[in-house]
Amino acid sequence: MRTDQDAPWWRAAVVYQVYPRSFADSDGDGVGDLAGIREHLDHLEWLGVDALWLSPFQPSPMDDNGYDISDYRAVDPIYGTLDDFDALVADAHDRGIRIVLDLVANHTSDEHPWFRQSRSASDHPRRDWYWWRRPRDGHVPGQHGAEPTNWGSFFSGSAWAWDPTSDEYYLHLFSPKQPDLNWENPAVRQAIHDVARWWLRRGVDGFRMDVINLVSKDPALPDGVVRPGEEYGDLGRSVVDGPRVHEYLAEFRREVFGDRTDVVLLVGEAPGTGLEEARRYTHPDRRELDMVFHFEHVNVDRGEFKWDLRPFSVPALRRVLATWQVGLADCWNALYWDNHDQPRVVSRFGDVTRFRDASAKALATVLHLQRGTPFVFQGDEIGMANYPFTTIEDFDDIESVNHYRRSVALGVAPEDVLVSLRAMSRDNGRTPMQWDDGPQAGFTRGRPWRPVNPDHVDVNVAAQREVPGSVLHHYRDLIRLRHEEPVVVEGTFSLLAAEHDHLFAFTREHGDTTLVVVANLSSGRVGLPDDVREACEGAALVLGERAAGVLDPWESRVLRRTRAPEGAT
Ligand code: NOJ
Repeated sequence: MRTDQDAPWWRAAVVYQVYPRSFADSDGDGVGDLAGIREHLDHLEWLGVDALWLSPFQPSPMDDNGYDISDYRAVDPIYGTLDDFDALVADAHDRGIRIVLDLVANHTSDEHPWFRQSRSASDHPRRDWYWWRRPRDGHVPGQHGAEPTNWGSFFSGSAWAWDPTSDEYYLHLFSPKQPDLNWENPAVRQAIHDVARWWLRRGVDGFRMDVINLVSKDPALPDGVVRPGEEYGDLGRSVVDGPRVHEYLAEFRREVFGDRTDVVLLVGEAPGTGLEEARRYTHPDRRELDMVFHFEHVNVDRGEFKWDLRPFSVPALRRVLATWQVGLADCWNALYWDNHDQPRVVSRFGDVTRFRDASAKALATVLHLQRGTPFVFQGDEIGMANYPFTTIEDFDDIESVNHYRRSVALGVAPEDVLVSLRAMSRDNGRTPMQWDDGPQAGFTRGRPWRPVNPDHVDVNVAAQREVPGSVLHHYRDLIRLRHEEPVVVEGTFSLLAAEHDHLFAFTREHGDTTLVVVANLSSGRVGLPDDVREACEGAALVLGERAAGVLDPWESRVLRRTRAPEGAT
């Protein structure tokens, strides 16, 4: 039987995501780099994180900020060199911090040699490495309607790009500069296995696998349903959790890690995945992924479409999170609020104007003390907020800009589109890290590639380091608690106050220990319901300020109780 001591390292770990462009710039060109990350390892060690997930830093035309890779085995000069990478790995390992890479294998850049070769001739041996298809019969090739399917891309427009040289289309679920690899072809899968093995030999400790649940497509490529108000069909049914995805993932693990005895982390990004499918990805017996990033909790304030805003409701959020906690009880969860694709949680679910610090802390508490591995996105630890965008010129992200253009072309009022961009754009998560209150927040001595949030004069790492009780110290306390208390790692999860409008409260139980986590996710005062009050009886406060019967706005507490051994008086 497995004991806690044999548990894989990632169960007790907190992973910190670095978006290299925006983390720290060492050479003054305005773009973050690998040497900049290295210079800030002190911060990460002080915080106590166990691993860094690095968003892509490989050579890229940067159509999608590096999620369009043109060489899997190198470092983009803007970020440094392979020597810089090796030095970062060595320094991080010296401090006991592991390195997890982003493996972007659903697609490459259209400037990757594989795609250049594939595109060069219809009979090139690499033609079949991507999804090439003839135009639809009865339509003029290259004109709207001739696309092989009616699928819309995640970044607006058709998911097919026309190649006049060969009179065929290629598939791109994201931008036309991100052609989808054809995983049906075993040579493609082997090439990706080789890439993973190459980085493992360089010392990495795991992979975050980009949109990994989209790699298997239904080869029949059926048209999707066109929803009212939409121009293109929904490709979800044919590409999300496709027919061979589990086979591919089991093969990946076997082929890449087969003979390794050390424990690596495989976390898959899985947009559109539901709980049942997530269980298949993550059940330990199946040996596919260790955990997945699902999207259900970051969709609770969205309507049917990604850009439709819906008011945030605590019961809806709690229902989703509790369902996944219970549903993955024999598997494992990846816990996150933010990443480079999401707006900032304190602006989204918190109260950034009136209770910024308290709401950042309460949200951190309820996330970190669930069962699973928490992922901290750079800046979460100081409660970084959304950027005050004013016009469309303030945006950079391809998804946001395309959405604006297409919506305005379809007749939506520009101001209405801006309202949802301000709230939901990925650019909110990509402003430079706020290190101090100096010029450009200490991110760069040059001109930053994205403007620094003006609130950095108040919200920054240096200021919060000085203040016990700051958001930064709270994150550190939560991370320490996970390392010190087995109940945080292994405990079972039970929801309290399940019908409450504002509370998120739960217990975690392991052996003799019960942890009680209570957070008021509202800007009003809330009395403790009976079941929470009972759970807190006889328990000692381990995080928080007081144990009164009322919770202040956004107040959160953690209490701990140890059951006396049987027979003790
Ligand atoms: C998911 C990544 O997180 C996102 O940033 C990117 O745009 C898409 N995958 C495409 O690679």
